[in-house]
Amino acid sequence: MSYDFSTSAARENTNAEKYTLREKLFGTEDVEPLWVADMDIDTPDFVIDAVKKRLEHPIVGYEEVPASAFLAQIEWMKMVHGVEFELEDMLFSHSVVASMNTAIDAFSEIGDKVIVQTPVYPPFFHSVMEHNREILKNPLKLDDNGIYSFDIEDLKSKIDEKTKLLLLCSPHNPVGRVWKKEELEKILEVCLKHNIVVFSDEIHSDLVYEPNIHIPFASLCKQAREISVTAIGVGKTFNMAGFAMSSVAIPNKELHAKFLKSYNRIHFAQGNALSHVAFESAYKNGDAWLKEIKIHLLKNYIMLKELCEKFPSIIKITPIEATYLAWLDCRDMKLDGKGLRDFFIHKAGLGLSAGLNFGREGSGFMRLNFAVSSTKMSLILEKLEKALQEYKNS
Ligand SMILES: Cc1ncc(COP(=O)(O)O)c(C=O)c1O
Repeated sequence: MSYDFSTSAARENTNAEKYTLREKLFGTEDVEPLWVADMDIDTPDFVIDAVKKRLEHPIVGYEEVPASAFLAQIEWMKMVHGVEFELEDMLFSHSVVASMNTAIDAFSEIGDKVIVQTPVYPPFFHSVMEHNREILKNPLKLDDNGIYSFDIEDLKSKIDEKTKLLLLCSPHNPVGRVWKKEELEKILEVCLKHNIVVFSDEIHSDLVYEPNIHIPFASLCKQAREISVTAIGVGKTFNMAGFAMSSVAIPNKELHAKFLKSYNRIHFAQGNALSHVAFESAYKNGDAWLKEIKIHLLKNYIMLKELCEKFPSIIKITPIEATYLAWLDCRDMKLDGKGLRDFFIHKAGLGLSAGLNFGREGSGFMRLNFAVSSTKMSLILEKLEKALQEYKNS
């Protein structure tokens, strides 16, 4: 391994959201924050160096996203994920969530329905509500092995002529699924039949563990390409969310023009000069780092899994195919939302995301972000083991 993930820079005295909001969210600063989905891992050198180089020029004025940045992303998407986009399909976005809001604005009207598959990253349903659209809730199914899947029959039974858009989370946060081709094809079939646009949030698509393979929705077939809006970026992959740069790929000209109308009204502009070079460098130089970070992340997950397996009657870990977010099934603890939160904050000293934030289906679950150095992971495991042992003995 050429990168060292045994330690990472301290973030306590920076503006890191994960740390600055500890008191507000957990009522104490004395908690290891494992909530926001960024990594407590140093952003790679090839990203930082590109920014330093850019700063050698003393003027930081308005800039256009260089074609070379999008071309680097297009090349990556083709080589890593087997999907082909053209330069004219691509639009800059400072945030995938902003792109999702734009899609809701562009492809539906007040009172229309938007499909959301819960439990899911909270902005999926907040964005729909904020636009006065109706949430068409199509909860994922959970089997006895803790594996989630789409509920296609439920989806078919709920769709009506007011249903205009499906918000797909692929791979899925928080349940860690990488949707298989056959599963995506079922979604495609339903959406084609009912003329529904698919907003495919693929922000976690690079952090997929073998043998799973991310299938971009737009790569399924020509028809899928024609009804999809794909949001992609480097924020999660290379731990550079603070650069606030992602993109949206919309190959269908009509959808592209419709999206652009809302996009221009909001004035997305072209982002900032530093993120342009950071984004391009990540795609051009990130291959080796990504391979190594995935090995490191998976090691952390396995250690967490082994710990949970020592307490099978208390906590179960959802099998993971992608992301660095462990979805912990704590339903056997028989604690309500507050009790579960108190257990993790006050008994374990850990600040997790409450499952209920991801929808009612997340009740009894907690999400733990394990993208940390190995030193920090040992500390987290120690704290959690002690708390679980005490709980077992109580
Ligand atoms: C599925 C998903 N989409 C979007 C985001 C946020 O993306 P952005 O910061 O670009 O809005 C996250 C962050 O956790 C996420 O998990």
